Amino acid sequence: MADSAFWDRIAESYAAKPVDDPAAFERKIAITRDRMTPDSVVLDVGCGTGSLALRLADAGQAVHGLDISAEMIRIAEGKAAAQGIENVRFHTGPFDADFTVFADGALDGLCAYSILHLVDDRQAALAQIRRLLKPGGFFISSTVCLGRRRWLYGPLLALMRLFGKAPRVTLFTAETLLDDMRAAGFVDVELADVGASAEIAFIVAQKPG
Ligand SMILES: C[S@@+](CC[C@H](N)C(=O)[O-])C[C@H]1O[C@@H](n2cnc3c(N)ncnc32)[C@H](O)[C@@H]1O
Repeated sequence: MADSAFWDRIAESYAAKPVDDPAAFERKIAITRDRMTPDSVVLDVGCGTGSLALRLADAGQAVHGLDISAEMIRIAEGKAAAQGIENVRFHTGPFDADFTVFADGALDGLCAYSILHLVDDRQAALAQIRRLLKPGGFFISSTVCLGRRRWLYGPLLALMRLFGKAPRVTLFTAETLLDDMRAAGFVDVELADVGASAEIAFIVAQKPG
């Protein structure tokens, strides 16, 4: 099953599920909003049903959400309409070289919450993120890093995937992700403590100014 089909299938239940750790989510939103100015144009990659994008909308000029799942985007658009939010625009498609909505250097900020463990080529995704940002633009990633317990999650996720209960997930550690981000040319790459589970790495970084 293609991963877009997996996400389409679970979109309604994903939208209905309460946020896992509301206090940590609020801290992540506060840190992200702090990096924005009223002129900011920000992209939320793997935006799901728009929970983050909609919370950032009034902190910037425009927020865009991209997701591979048309169902996730349908729900996100419905939420935006219901909340009367007009400066958020959603796009359906994979985050890859074919995503050409923005010119290189067009974005003030880019968020990737719960997505870098799902992309096929993390290094290519990081290079693309860097390319899309303006010099000095911010990059915020919140990523589940399960590499330390690969022995457990590897077989478990493979089994779940076999039964259509999990997407394809790449297992790596927070240290690997920090190294990858630095190797991709980001600076001030730092883990921020938002009180989330130890397996979630919340990382703020910048494209050199
Ligand atoms: C775990 S959900 C996270 C959603 C949202 N960012 C959040 O934190 O609630 C992962 C999302 O990424 C999307 N996704 C997975 N692979 C993708 C890709 N290659 N390009 C764009 N979106 C993708 C899925 O459709 C899904 O909505």
